[in-house]
Amino acid sequence: VTEPVESAARVRSIVREARERGQRVGLVPTMGALHAGHVELIKQCRAQTDFVIVSIFVNPTQFGLGEDFGRYPRPLEHDLRQCESAGVDLVFAPSVPTVYPHGSSSTFVEVPGLSDVLEGASRPGHFRGVTTVVLKLFELVRPDLAIFGQKDFQQQAVIRRMVEDLHVPVELAVVPTVRGPDGLALSSRNRYLNPEERQAATVLFRALSRAMQAVAAGERQAEQVRQILRETLESEPLVKLNYAEVADAETLEPLGNLSKERAAVALLAARIGTTRLIDNALLSVVRCPL
Ligand code: PAF
Repeated sequence: VTEPVESAARVRSIVREARERGQRVGLVPTMGALHAGHVELIKQCRAQTDFVIVSIFVNPTQFGLGEDFGRYPRPLEHDLRQCESAGVDLVFAPSVPTVYPHGSSSTFVEVPGLSDVLEGASRPGHFRGVTTVVLKLFELVRPDLAIFGQKDFQQQAVIRRMVEDLHVPVELAVVPTVRGPDGLALSSRNRYLNPEERQAATVLFRALSRAMQAVAAGERQAEQVRQILRETLESEPLVKLNYAEVADAETLEPLGNLSKERAAVALLAARIGTTRLIDNALLSVVRCPL
C-alpha cells in the first residue's frame, strides 16, 4: 500500500522532481473516506496530468459546532488501497499542525457573497474553512490542475472565484456527480443513513430529475421549478427540506426566468434523520434535438 507523505517539505521536493521530469502535476483534494465518486475524480486527473496527487485531510475549520468533525470517517488503510488501485502517484496526508502551523484561527481566506448563501447560510464559516484549506493545499502542492466534484456545486464555484480573484496559477476541472443505481449521489456521509433513510434519500435525485424534465418540456419560470423540487421532497416524510433553489450557475443568484443566456443550476439540501445531504443538477434550456 502506498505510503502517505505527511511533511510539506517532502511533498514539495517530490513535486519539484516530477516537474523536472517534465510531468504535469494534478491534485485531487479530499477528506478521505474515498468512494467511487473520488475514484472518478482520480481517473479524470490521470487523464489530464502525468503525476497524480490525492490529498487526504479532514479539515477541522470547515466543520461547524455540532457538526460531524469528530465522527467523520477516517478509514486510512482503505483509502490508501483505493489510491493504489486507481494509480495515484502520491498520497499527501498532512497533520493538522502541518496545515495550520499557527493554529486554525491564524490566517484565512474568504470569498464573501458566494460563501454566504445556500450552504453558507446553513453552515456559517464553512466556506471560509474550505477556501482557506484549499489555498493552503494549492500552496503546499503547487499543482497544475486541481479536480473537484460537481456534487459540491457551491464549493467549486467559491473555489473558482477565489482562484480568479487571487490569480492562483492552477487550472480547475469539475467532474459530474457519480450516482448509485437508484440515483443517490455518492457521498462519504451516505454511510450515516440506515436502510430506511437510504431509501428515502433517493427523493433528492427524483426531485432534480422532475425539475430537469419540466425544463426540457419548456418550463422557464424558476419559481415553478422550485415548486416541483419542494413538492417532490415534501412527499417523503423522512426528509426535512433545508433549501430548494434555482440559481445562476456562476453567481448562485436566484433566477426569475431560465434562459439560454445564463446557465442555471437546481440546488437542494435536506436533512434525513441526523444526516444532511446535498445534491444539484444543471438545468439545460436547450431542447434535445432528437
Ligand atoms: O470536498 C471536500 O472533500 C473538501 O471540502 C475539500 C475540498 C477537500 C476541502 O477540505
